[in-house]
Amino acid sequence: MAFKLNNQLLSKIATSNGHGEDSAYFDGWKAYDKNPFHATENPNGVIQMGLAENRLSFDLVQEWLKLNPHASICTAEGVHEFRDVAIFQDYHGLAEFRNAVAKFMGKVRGDKVVFDPDRIVMGGGATGANEMIIFCLADPGDAFLVPTPYYPGFDRDLRWRTGIQLVPVECESSNNFEVTREALESAYEMAQMNNIRVKGLLITNPSNPLGRILDRETLKSIVDFINDKNIHLVCDEIYAATVFSEPDFVSVSEIIQEEGRECNLDLIHIVYSLSKDMGFPGFRVGIVYSYNDAVVNCARKMSSFGLVSSQTQHLIASMLSDDEFVERFIRESKTRLASRHKLLTEGLARLGISCLKGSNAGLFVWMNLRRLLKEQSFEGEMALWRVIINEVKLNVSPGSSFHCSEPGWFRVCFANIDDETVEVALARIRTFVLQSKEAKKPVKKLCWQGSLKLSFSSRIYDDFVMSPHSPIPQSPLVQART
Ligand SMILES: Cc1ncc(COP(=O)(O)O)c(C=O)c1O
Repeated sequence: MAFKLNNQLLSKIATSNGHGEDSAYFDGWKAYDKNPFHATENPNGVIQMGLAENRLSFDLVQEWLKLNPHASICTAEGVHEFRDVAIFQDYHGLAEFRNAVAKFMGKVRGDKVVFDPDRIVMGGGATGANEMIIFCLADPGDAFLVPTPYYPGFDRDLRWRTGIQLVPVECESSNNFEVTREALESAYEMAQMNNIRVKGLLITNPSNPLGRILDRETLKSIVDFINDKNIHLVCDEIYAATVFSEPDFVSVSEIIQEEGRECNLDLIHIVYSLSKDMGFPGFRVGIVYSYNDAVVNCARKMSSFGLVSSQTQHLIASMLSDDEFVERFIRESKTRLASRHKLLTEGLARLGISCLKGSNAGLFVWMNLRRLLKEQSFEGEMALWRVIINEVKLNVSPGSSFHCSEPGWFRVCFANIDDETVEVALARIRTFVLQSKEAKKPVKKLCWQGSLKLSFSSRIYDDFVMSPHSPIPQSPLVQART
């Protein structure tokens, strides 16, 4: 007998669009999955620049693993621990794991703060940790303020199963997307006017997608704001160790320790994970670190739904306890991120494309393509995005999927691919810009990369190339060709 799957048989949560999969952010990934770039096997495929993964320092980890076979229960040297590790699963986590993670969290914050291992609660990546903290702090219908642009996954992680709402705090390019007190107040008021109870503010520092840190003054003003309103502050600091150039990262944990600062510590919570700083999203190591005892207690019980496997805890405990390795890894990872960032941003600058000022962290840049929009609207942004994904074959993510309040911004990830692929991407962008200029001229057939024919909808680019503000004519690459 054939059964039909009927939506009414499922829960409202299951049938809602809470996952948010229906967006350009995820569509870009699907386009990549269907036709992934490979330097030799598929050179005309889609280049994945929509994935915030950090693969630049994997060789260091592999080297460590070879030198430390005892850390894994899957080796002759470590298998004697197999029984203990296999049976252990207490929701407090292995003591050595919590100690090592607490120490690591301090280290990536420049050893300016000390984290208490007894406050470390495990979650399934930052995804699970973020949901868990929301479950602890808010009821269905309550709201969290979130400065825009923000990580698209928050719509799923914070809202879907908890039933809370997100209220955007609109930040603007005119002041470099700063999180101002005015913007916070205005979002808070807006929620109140709509009878929405605001339970907290969630910030991401360093920011995804801006690739930049929040400065000390901004953090202080945020801490003052949440204290004045008596609401929670959740700081997603999962990019803490990706800060590759000055100014240094400032964690909220530093701000609340400042002498003379009045702050209700019960309102402060940090979310962390090893997905970005170490490049281990597959290990699902997420952390809630709360200064509130009741939250630690409750989160620990809730963590039963998203524990880190004890095998992973065992390995991570050993790896992160190796001070020499950790210091070298953090240092080297920053150096490599800095040089990759330079390669991409300088390449874009040569094409007259700028990225957000002050970008010094993260695994991506926030690229400004406003001048390429046929019309200054989100429809215009999507039209451009479709050309980039379908014709230029680069998966970059449009700002609208990050709830950016202005069209024309795109997030470009740079740490999940190699230097050569970045060069291929830059060459494609260059061709794209040059061809759109060529397309201005009367009928001319355009070819690109031998077999792949491109037919750019030239009108979109006319404004950009012909604008008196267009940086393209100044580009040495363009001059070389024209
Ligand atoms: C700001 C932010 N928070 C959370 C996550 C989810 O991270 P995880 O892989 O640890 O679940 C991401 C992933 O991109 C992110 O950028």
